[in-house]
Amino acid sequence: MNLDLLSGDTVTTSAAARVVRGVDELRLALAPARREGRAIGLVPTMGFLHEGHVSLLRAAHAECDVLVMSLFVNPTQFGPNEDLDRYPRDEERDLRLAGDAGVDLVFAPAASELYPDGFATAVEVSGGLTSVLDGDPGRRGPGHFRGVTTVVAKLFNIVGPDIAYFGQKDAQQAAVIKRMVRDLDFPLRVEVMPTVREADGLAMSSRNVYLEPADRARAAAISRALAAAERQALATDSLAAGLAAARAELAAAAIEPEYLEARDAETLEPVDGLTGHPILVAVAARVGGARLIDNVVIEPPGG
Ligand code: PAF
Repeated sequence: MNLDLLSGDTVTTSAAARVVRGVDELRLALAPARREGRAIGLVPTMGFLHEGHVSLLRAAHAECDVLVMSLFVNPTQFGPNEDLDRYPRDEERDLRLAGDAGVDLVFAPAASELYPDGFATAVEVSGGLTSVLDGDPGRRGPGHFRGVTTVVAKLFNIVGPDIAYFGQKDAQQAAVIKRMVRDLDFPLRVEVMPTVREADGLAMSSRNVYLEPADRARAAAISRALAAAERQALATDSLAAGLAAARAELAAAAIEPEYLEARDAETLEPVDGLTGHPILVAVAARVGGARLIDNVVIEPPGG
């Protein structure tokens, strides 16, 4: 992509992704593409890229004329006891991978650029979407999603994408962002791409780096549990049987889930049986030093 971008405080990677640190600089850089009506894609990330991110970048690159990746470890979505300080970071590697995947611009602001002194505004999707599963106050809490929606709304305003890409691994986050986009009339489309997995089924995550080898092997039980839930629920026409199969799979690997729940895939309302609508079975579990989440969507038979 030969973008007619204006010069600024930039670094050029091997495959020519350009790093932009400032909001004004990014807007200026995108102005020619916007004027010419080219489709702008955005892949928001917190960096430490893995194949899951790369699959989003590839999809965006195939569909959009100009591809922006944001790289920002967003402090407002981390709770006081979470891993903000030790969250893995490797900007140089991220820039290389982004360039190789066809990213035109990497927006990598400092925290003070997005949250200047006196910052006092939040974007919040309230209600059931953000108070259950990870949003349960006993877990990460609704404040986590307030942090996500605030930063994502800012990124949407700064980049002005036509299409924004998110991963299905963070199914609740995707549902919350879709609701925010609908409720606040952001003029863009949200694409949710399938979870990318390791050979043994473990969902790719930047946090997998926290797993010691023995825990890494145990962690594969999470995806086996979700597969068992889907298989058993469909075979017996019983969601309860599916959840029991998942619990057994986790217990065999000595994994005590923080939650393992079945909910309507769109509204996240609880369901107690197969409803004829897609059902999200979501799990969170601490395995050694990592808190892992994963999910499967059980589609209605014949649906
Ligand atoms: O999914 C993530 O990596 C983050 O929650 C996001 C969407 C980049 C917002 O910080």
